[in-house]
Amino acid sequence: MKLIQSPSKLNRLVHQLKRKGRRIGFVPTMGYLHKGHLALVKRALKENDVVIVSIFVNPTQFGPKEDFKRYPRNLKRDQKFLKQVHTDYLFAPTRRSVYPKGFREFVSPGPLAKYLCGPKRPGHFQGVATVVNRLFQMVAPDSAYFGEKDYQQLRVIQEMVRRFRLPIAIKRCPIVRERDGLAMSSRNRYLSTKERIQARALYQSLLKAHKLIKGGERDAGRIKREVRKFLKPYVTKIDYVEISNPSTLVLVKRVKGSVLVTLACFIGTTRLIDNKIIKV
Ligand code: PAF
Repeated sequence: MKLIQSPSKLNRLVHQLKRKGRRIGFVPTMGYLHKGHLALVKRALKENDVVIVSIFVNPTQFGPKEDFKRYPRNLKRDQKFLKQVHTDYLFAPTRRSVYPKGFREFVSPGPLAKYLCGPKRPGHFQGVATVVNRLFQMVAPDSAYFGEKDYQQLRVIQEMVRRFRLPIAIKRCPIVRERDGLAMSSRNRYLSTKERIQARALYQSLLKAHKLIKGGERDAGRIKREVRKFLKPYVTKIDYVEISNPSTLVLVKRVKGSVLVTLACFIGTTRLIDNKIIKV
């Protein structure tokens, strides 16, 4: 696996690959890789001739009181994992090359950012849309891979690609979970042993919602109340529990067709998110 840090080197490589007619698969990440990321890389390797993974901890998607400074970073560890799965290229740009001095071309995340994590993390989806658009310009991939764990992010990016008519296929990949159901996330690393056990409640509460819906409950308010009641003894703070239309993310009052149940909770100081699409 080759490490590339300069966007101009990457640009030359991408041109060469395109001239040879190679299909480029792209997996953008913020590093501290886990099995969820590796599942994206493995799928990209199956579906493309060449795979480029990026690692860039994007400052513009963190709020002033969020964990940008303490976000786990370990390039050597990540390189080892990526080599093991036979990744072709790792692109690790510097902050200045992604955001040159005077950078102002921020990308609006569109109306999907009005819901769920949007109001709780002002500016977050603008930061995500901006950096993914920057990386798309640099990598010019044919396909890009995103996990359903960050479901709202995935929808924001799908919409951005549609609005800008980017010739990139967005591949949506299922959530990878630990054996006890906790969705894999680089932030799980912040949890103490006790908090890690408490964190099981997130997925269990989604299973509770699933059981209620399969049992015939259709009132979103009642389902949300039950999910909150379930979570309360295990979490420090519930940021939100919502039931939405999986496409528009608009909150629903009654469950019809497919719904997206999403939640965000603090366990200690760690904010974790999870979701499940439930079909009636
Ligand atoms: O999901 C992530 O790791 C990040 O939000 C992304 C898509 C790499 C943008 O910084």
